Amino acid sequence: PVHEIFMQCMSTKFNAYTKNMQIIHNQNSPLYSHLLQSSQQNPRWLNSTTLPKPLIVLTPFHESEIQAAIVCSKMLGLQVRVRSGGHDYEGLSYLCKKPFVLVDLVNLRSIEINVEEKTAWVQSGATLGELYYAIAKETGVYGFPAGLCPSVGIGGHFSGGGLGTMLRKYGLAADNVIDAYLVDANGKVLGRKEMGEDLFWAIRGGGGGTFGIVLSWKIKLVPVPPKVTGFTVSKSLKQGVGKLVHRWQYIVDKLHEDLFVRVIIQDVGKGNEKTVQASFNSLFLGGIDKLIPLMNKSFPELGLQAKDCVEMSWIQSVLYFSGYQMDQPLEVLLDRNVLYKSYFKAKSDFVKEPISEAGLEGIWERFLEEELVFMIMDPFGGKMNEISESEIPFPHRNGNLYNIQYLVKWEVNGFRASNKHVHWIRMLYRYMKPYVSSSPRAAYINYRDLDLGRNKIENNFTSYEEGSVWGTKYFKGNFKRLVDVKSKVDPLNFFRNEQSIPSLPVSI
Ligand code: FDA
Repeated sequence: PVHEIFMQCMSTKFNAYTKNMQIIHNQNSPLYSHLLQSSQQNPRWLNSTTLPKPLIVLTPFHESEIQAAIVCSKMLGLQVRVRSGGHDYEGLSYLCKKPFVLVDLVNLRSIEINVEEKTAWVQSGATLGELYYAIAKETGVYGFPAGLCPSVGIGGHFSGGGLGTMLRKYGLAADNVIDAYLVDANGKVLGRKEMGEDLFWAIRGGGGGTFGIVLSWKIKLVPVPPKVTGFTVSKSLKQGVGKLVHRWQYIVDKLHEDLFVRVIIQDVGKGNEKTVQASFNSLFLGGIDKLIPLMNKSFPELGLQAKDCVEMSWIQSVLYFSGYQMDQPLEVLLDRNVLYKSYFKAKSDFVKEPISEAGLEGIWERFLEEELVFMIMDPFGGKMNEISESEIPFPHRNGNLYNIQYLVKWEVNGFRASNKHVHWIRMLYRYMKPYVSSSPRAAYINYRDLDLGRNKIENNFTSYEEGSVWGTKYFKGNFKRLVDVKSKVDPLNFFRNEQSIPSLPVSI
C-alpha cells in the first residue's frame, strides 16, 4: 500500500524523522479520525462518502518532517494539503480529489514575544487566540491587528491578509509581517533572505496552499492604549435600520482611524415577530470621554451614550469581539474550536459607493425569507487608504468604503438543506451586483468562495485564463505577478488546489 511506501520513504531518507514515528497516522491509526475532524471548522463535508480522505495525516513537530513529507509525496505522485487552523470556508486545507497527504501543523504552535524589539515569531499552527494571549501575558501596551475569531489559524489567515478591529489604524495582519520561514516545493527551508522579495511578497496575502508550507512568521507588534472602548448598539426595522445603515456608509471610512464601527445585519425573531436587526459594533482605541464627542460629531443619528459603552483592556476587547464574556478567564482564547460551529456558506463583496435606501430595502426583504443569515460590513479607510494596492497581494485599498461578508448557516445538514441555503445566498449575491465593486467584482480570498471559479487541472496544470477568472477578483492587478512568482518557485505546480495560483510552464 502507498502509505507503507510513504512511511518507508520518510524513515529511510530523513534522519530527523526516525526519532518520531508517531507523527504519521494512516487510516487505521487510532488517532486518524479524531485528527482529521478536530479542526474542520465548517463541518459541511465531515461525513461525505464521496470525497476521498487523506492517505496519511502527518502531525510534524519539526521542519525536517515537513521537508521529508514533501519530497516523499512528490516521489510517490501524492498531493499535499496543509492545514493550520482548518477554517478554510471551502475546506481546501483538508479536501482533495486525488490521493493525498494532509500536513496538519497542530504541533507547530510556538510563539516568542520580544517586547524590547516590538516583534514576535509565531508558528503557523498557532491560533489568533494563542497569539493574542501570548502577547497579553508579556505586555499590556502592544497588540496585533488580525482577525476577530480566536480559533482562526495563523497559517491560512496571514497567507490571505487577515482583517480585524484595528485594520483602520494598522492595516492587515499581512501588512505587519516582516520575515517568514517556508518549506518550498523542493523541500528546502527558506527565510526571507533566501526566498527573495518576490516570494516574500506573494506569501503575504496571495492565499494559502500555493507557494509552499509557511512554518513561521515574524510580526511587528503595534501599540495599544491601556484603555479601549467597545459598544454594540442594535436597531430593528421598526427603529429605522434603513436610514441608519444608509447614513453609516457616508461616514464610516472617514472616521478617526482609532475608531472602527462595523455593522452586523441579521434576521431575528420568528413568524410575525421576525425582523431584521443591525448591530453597530465598535472598537475605539481610547476611553469613553473621547469616543462620545467623536461619535456625536460624525454619527449623531446613532445617539450613542456613555451607558452603551464599556471600557476595557485591549485583550478584553478580544474576548468582547469573539463572543466571550469579558470576565471569563483569558485561557478561553486558547480553545481551538469555533465558539458556534455550524454548517455555512459565505461570499464577499467590496463597496465603493453608498448603497441607496431602496437598495438596502431589497436586502432586508431577502433576509426576511431565510433564517440564520448575516451580513458583516467591515469599514475600511484610515491606514488601508495609505497602503498601495500592490504593496502586498491584497489589493482592496483606497476607494473601498467597506467589505461585506454574506453568511448563511444551517443546523441540519444534508444535500437538500444545503442546496436550499446555498441557493438563497447566491440569489442575494446576484441581487447585490449593481451596488458593489465591478470590473472586477472584487472578493476577499480569506472568505474563500468556489462559486467565483476554480482551476480545472489537466496534466497537473491549469491555464492563466482559467485562473484569472477567480484570481483577478481576489487580487486584481496583482494576479499576474502572483502567477510569475508561482511559475518561478513551483514550476511543476506541486502545491495546487481549486484556487491555487497557476504555475505556467513558461513565464508569461
Ligand atoms: P486552514 O488551515 O483551513 O487554511 C486555509 C488555507 O490556507 C488552505 O488553503 C490551507 O491549505 C492554507 N494554509 C494553511 N496553513 C498554511 C501554511 N502554514 N502555509 C501555507 N498555506 C497554508 N478572516 C479575517 O480576515 N478576519 C476575521 O475576523 C475572520 N474570522 C473568521 C471566523 C471564522 C469562524 C472563520 C471560519 C473564518 C474567519 N476568517 C476571518 C477567515 C479566515 O481568515 C480564513 O478562513 C483563513 O484562511 C483561515 O486560516 P486557517 O489556518 O484557520 O485555515
